Amino acid sequence: MTRHFLTGSELTTDELARLLDRAAELKRAPRSSSALAERVVGLVFEKPSTRTRVSFEVGVVELGGHPVVLRGDELQIARGEALRDTALVLERQLDAVGVRTGPQSAIEELARYSSIPVFNMLSVEHHPCQVLADLLTLLEAYGTLDGLRLAYVGDGNNVARSLALLGSIAGVEVVVASPEGYELEAGTGATLVLDPADAVKGAHAVYTDVWISMGDEAETATRRDAFAAYRVDDALLDLALPDAFAMHDLPAHPGEEISAEVLYGSRQRIWDQAENRRHAQKALLEWLLA
Ligand code: CP
Ligand code: NVA
Repeated sequence: MTRHFLTGSELTTDELARLLDRAAELKRAPRSSSALAERVVGLVFEKPSTRTRVSFEVGVVELGGHPVVLRGDELQIARGEALRDTALVLERQLDAVGVRTGPQSAIEELARYSSIPVFNMLSVEHHPCQVLADLLTLLEAYGTLDGLRLAYVGDGNNVARSLALLGSIAGVEVVVASPEGYELEAGTGATLVLDPADAVKGAHAVYTDVWISMGDEAETATRRDAFAAYRVDDALLDLALPDAFAMHDLPAHPGEEISAEVLYGSRQRIWDQAENRRHAQKALLEWLLA
């Protein structure tokens, strides 16, 4: 059976724990695995990326493989070639393929017709690779995930949904505070609240993401108004547990969803999260191609 990683729900609790332990091992010894020797991994980007692109490209090289970055606007998909046909062609050249695109349904369709592993590098609905790195960051900080409380403050978007989903697989309690109209749907595994203060109470970490995701630009003014009270700053962190730290998947907008003091200060592990993308995704690639 071909393994895919489309939402994160493909992993059991044990598999996720093993993957994170493996990521920590690979972080200690980045060149210790040649799991991708003589293997080629395609990375399709239909949206901009800094962290995901660099961490996957370098990660594949560190595992002894060869990355092929494919920009969406350079593929025939941009001229209407069917996803099914694209999948049938890519599977004959590549060993695995990652996709960053708009609708989750596009990634699901590629996976349906692919005999090689397909992994989600961000869709409007999910960002599971990000959350593998986030869980690794929490594990490094606390030595365990079990019983941790993670507060997420802001838009009920792809990052919030993946935190809820993978958090519940990992045993992390995720509490999401969003303004009315921007809530995560029920049933993701997260507790939903309106007030950021309620979410951060007793939290081990306080996570936020942009107010305006890729594709939301037309709503910029309304979103800035709606989210004005959903900023992670020192005052909000003071309401969490004493050693709680801020998290952010980046790119950040200091002065909007996070204060510059927190982003560049000592009460955050944001830059560790960005580094951990590579280590966590290398463990994911090993799992996908095992
Ligand atoms: N966090 C994240 O996915 O960053 P990029 O958009 O730069 O890849
Ligand atoms: N929610 C953001 C995440 C960026 C990494 C977006 O989709 O643009």
